[in-house]
Amino acid sequence: MGLVGFGICKRSNLQLAETQSSGRSESMRKSHSKELDQTVEETKEYYRQRASQYSDWAHRTGQYEDGVEPEASWFDEAMILIEALASSGLSGDVLEIASGTGIWTEELLRNAASVTALDSSPEMHERSKSRLRRNPKVRYIVADIYNWVPDMSYDAVTFSFWLSHVPGSKLNDFVSKVSRCLKLGGRVFFADQRTEGLTREVMDHQSGEIARRSLINGREFKIIKHFYSSEEITRCFLQEGIDINISNTATLFYYASGVKNRAQKARSRNPL
Ligand SMILES: C[S@@+](CC[C@H](N)C(=O)[O-])C[C@H]1O[C@@H](n2cnc3c(N)ncnc32)[C@H](O)[C@@H]1O
Repeated sequence: MGLVGFGICKRSNLQLAETQSSGRSESMRKSHSKELDQTVEETKEYYRQRASQYSDWAHRTGQYEDGVEPEASWFDEAMILIEALASSGLSGDVLEIASGTGIWTEELLRNAASVTALDSSPEMHERSKSRLRRNPKVRYIVADIYNWVPDMSYDAVTFSFWLSHVPGSKLNDFVSKVSRCLKLGGRVFFADQRTEGLTREVMDHQSGEIARRSLINGREFKIIKHFYSSEEITRCFLQEGIDINISNTATLFYYASGVKNRAQKARSRNPL
């Protein structure tokens, strides 16, 4: 009796401990995902507030003239990205995700029949509209890419300096959405900072994908900054039927181009 009681007691203690620990890990998981959701929102807000500074940063003008990131090769390497985009054959109806101030939209318009420029920041779109002189070939959509429901399919999808803002937990869904937007045979092109860019970020070490950034006015933000390896990226696109090739510039950037060669698996093959 005693032993049985002991056993039962022990087992129930164990069960209790397991329940408590799984309860703890469940609550840790919830608080982690809440923090990520907040950071995704803060990333959007950061770029809304940063819109007026963004062109100066990209063109290394204004307060960025001497370079917060003092790479002599910035323009040379950026030029390689622009040339790679030009030769990647994006044409027809193009979707540009996280289109920002329109730096890349301007290049896309050389070959595209239309560009759907999606960004969560109306302030970024305003800058893009004045840069592109309200070109009628551009359709602007203010939306959060994670909630956005596409209303047509595209010949090409592109997103520059965006992928590193997608948290690990949303990467598969993001790539799946890209693939859903693409016609079979459609092309993708994207570019971003290489992992080496990590050295310039103030990272939250626990999450490994949250960085601290500040604006000229001193306001601080936590933003998503996830440096994916080439292998992770390639694998993820492959799973969604898109074959991509990734190349690096000398020190700063990588770029990827590819084609949707296969339909998606049943899981994600749903109507737009
Ligand atoms: C690093 S900027 C890149 C802009 C542009 N592609 C470029 O290279 O100049 C990131 C852009 O993503 C947009 N963004 C941030 N979170 C977003 C979200 N959840 N959905 C759509 N756009 C988002 C920002 O407003 C910003 O314009």
